[in-house]
Amino acid sequence: MKFTVLSLFPDFIHSYFACSIAARGVNKGLLRYDAVDIRDFAHDVHRSCDDAPYGGGAGMVMKPDVLAEALHAVAAVGKRVVYPTPSGRPLSSAVIAELATERELFFVCGRYEGIDQRVLDRYVTDEISIGDYVIASGELAAMVIIDGVMRRVPGVISGESLQQESFEQGLLEYPHYTRPEEWDGERVPEVLLSGHHAKIEEWRFRKSVEKTLRVRPELLEQDRLEAAGLSAENRRTVMKILDSGGRDGLGKDD
Ligand code: ADE
Repeated sequence: MKFTVLSLFPDFIHSYFACSIAARGVNKGLLRYDAVDIRDFAHDVHRSCDDAPYGGGAGMVMKPDVLAEALHAVAAVGKRVVYPTPSGRPLSSAVIAELATERELFFVCGRYEGIDQRVLDRYVTDEISIGDYVIASGELAAMVIIDGVMRRVPGVISGESLQQESFEQGLLEYPHYTRPEEWDGERVPEVLLSGHHAKIEEWRFRKSVEKTLRVRPELLEQDRLEAAGLSAENRRTVMKILDSGGRDGLGKDD
């Protein structure tokens, strides 16, 4: 899969692809990327990429002529072009999974107040928000989206990790433990040492439900769980866990 990122600060993107899982994906030939400096497409003496907003107001707006030239130069026209913005549709596991079906994605990173609306209208296919807050760097938002997408590219991480993570079936993930068995007076839950796989699965499922109830109770609505792909049998188990006293005081039992 290829990511082409248009940015005023391409070093952000280079540093991302130089580290950890993304770097491994690049080295294995599973991921490719291009970090393109938008400023290379500005032609005035100051190489300016932004200007004051028509109608007045605070901040600067990124110029349509410069961005359009950059988008044409990387052959993004007619392709999937993502613009990370707090006014976009919310990022979710489903949005990431859908983007991951593409072979190539383009990102335009905004700074300042944003980019000229005519560029959005003509070239951008997806305006995506990473959450209800504003950050200064569109690059960071683009990297969040890229990070979510690239780990779904087959071979980048193990398929098992993908199946057992938060949101995969509408629930938050269960807790993890590793050696030592006892640390600072706290023991790993016995069931995890038992070698009894069915019991471990059952415990993990219950812990997922408990965590979801504590942190994101709205995710446990039956319709939402069904939409997230949780089986009817597992949805019944969720109800049982909630009914068996879970609703008032799920906690540290093991
Ligand atoms: N740029 C600034 N804030 C953002 C957000 N919340 N999501 C996506 N892009 C952004």
